[in-house]
Amino acid sequence: MTRKTIIAGNWKMHKTIRETIDFLEELLPKVKKSTCEVRIAPPFTALSVAANAIKGSHVQIGAQNMSEAEEGAFTGEVSSRMLKDAGAQFVILGHSERRALFGETDELIHAKLQRAFQEGLPPILCIGETEQQRESNQSVQVLTTQIDKCLKEFSREQLETLVIAYEPVWAIGTGKTATPEMAQETHQAIRAHIAKIWGGDFADQLSLLYGGSVKPDNIDALLNQPDIDGALIGGASLDAATFGQMVQR
Ligand code: PGA
Repeated sequence: MTRKTIIAGNWKMHKTIRETIDFLEELLPKVKKSTCEVRIAPPFTALSVAANAIKGSHVQIGAQNMSEAEEGAFTGEVSSRMLKDAGAQFVILGHSERRALFGETDELIHAKLQRAFQEGLPPILCIGETEQQRESNQSVQVLTTQIDKCLKEFSREQLETLVIAYEPVWAIGTGKTATPEMAQETHQAIRAHIAKIWGGDFADQLSLLYGGSVKPDNIDALLNQPDIDGALIGGASLDAATFGQMVQR
């Protein structure tokens, strides 16, 4: 495991196959010189064409969700094996929209992580507190509980490919961003908690991304913080020029 700068785009339920191809044609020339790791999570339907389009570049393609089950009678679900087959190189798990709108619990996310590790599909685990939890000073408690439950009993070896994204729910798609200082303070608390469980050297190597209304005009200040290693970007990842500007680092 090595700590690296990762800029990841989460497209959510946006973009057709054609739109995906057009985006990548515009983006790829812009990322040639970037030294950070660039990741994009298109919708399932565009995974395979996106995986073909990025061949030979250093952009990685991944999925936004997957089933915890290996296979079976689970109408509408997509398995880790299918994702790998389609060319996915990572998977986002536990996004707050999955938690809030589709009822995903920490226990379910734990099962999905287990599946991802078994399949060799590197996960980005999302954690985050709500506005109410922040206002009542429960942020760190909520985040460390999410970590404890989602990552319960995994060994350091299993967690080798893990990336964590801290995304305060109140900052997602709202235009409200945590200030760089507030995000840094939270990232530091997350890293300290990880260090307590899996050791300081493991925590030092873990890439911790910030997400929630990241844009060209706030990304530098966020990434300048010592414990913020990258960003998970929703809205501002949909435009190739805007995203291209943010990955040039
Ligand atoms: P946003 O979304 O950048 O549109 O706030 C971030 C995310 O949900 O990952």
